[in-house]
Amino acid sequence: MRKPMMAGNWKMNKTVPEAVALARQIHALAGSSEGVEQLLCPPFICLHALKALTEETSFSLGAQNCHWEESGAYTGEISPAMLRGLADYVIIGHSERRQLFGESDENVNRKARAALAHEIRPVVCVGESLEQNERGQTGETINRQVRAALDGLSGAQVQSTIIAYEPIWAIGTGRAATAGTAGEICGQVRAILREMHGEAAADAVRILYGGSTKPDNIGAIMREPQIDGALIGGAALEAESYAEMVRITGELYGA
Ligand code: PGA
Repeated sequence: MRKPMMAGNWKMNKTVPEAVALARQIHALAGSSEGVEQLLCPPFICLHALKALTEETSFSLGAQNCHWEESGAYTGEISPAMLRGLADYVIIGHSERRQLFGESDENVNRKARAALAHEIRPVVCVGESLEQNERGQTGETINRQVRAALDGLSGAQVQSTIIAYEPIWAIGTGRAATAGTAGEICGQVRAILREMHGEAAADAVRILYGGSTKPDNIGAIMREPQIDGALIGGAALEAESYAEMVRITGELYGA
């Protein structure tokens, strides 16, 4: 069975002391929650301080981006070699990076390969814009993004990867996809994985939904059999709401 994951994408929020305080609050409220993986993705500069907390807590840690080269003249960038040992996961191709920082499918693929080469598991984000959604282009957009992101990866590497379906129109808008639609698209993602790498690999990959998830809708979302977790923005910045989402998920999975 795939272990459910509640992944908090803190985006460009929290100073180092604020990040430590938030992680401590979450731990106090959610505890270790054996059955649910709690992944915290703070800004880069907070990773070291949060890593120190993982001795007493069971958080997994993720970065929000990385470069694909090992090192070099890339001012302002962070390489997977630098993240090794600090981050278990790295979010790649978030729609904010695609839209605001010109991240292409090709670079998403380079980053995924580079992360895997350093034993960091990519959380690859895919999702259609409002315009694509209204034109009925959701399926083809997802298909293109998933195939491009995973191009050239082995079946084993794909199994170490997490895919997050995040419709852009649902991110930060308070307007989540319905659980049924989210489940259907996550099912389509799994079908693409099956076509690329076979049944066993496809069944092993965790697929998350992201976009305006909160305690109110997480139950319905997590009841969808094709959805294995959530990538949470706003609601992950409040210890109470994040911990509540972990609790609800744990209950659903009988943890
Ligand atoms: P949101 O963000 O939960 O605030 O909509 C989700 C995300 O961007 O990953």
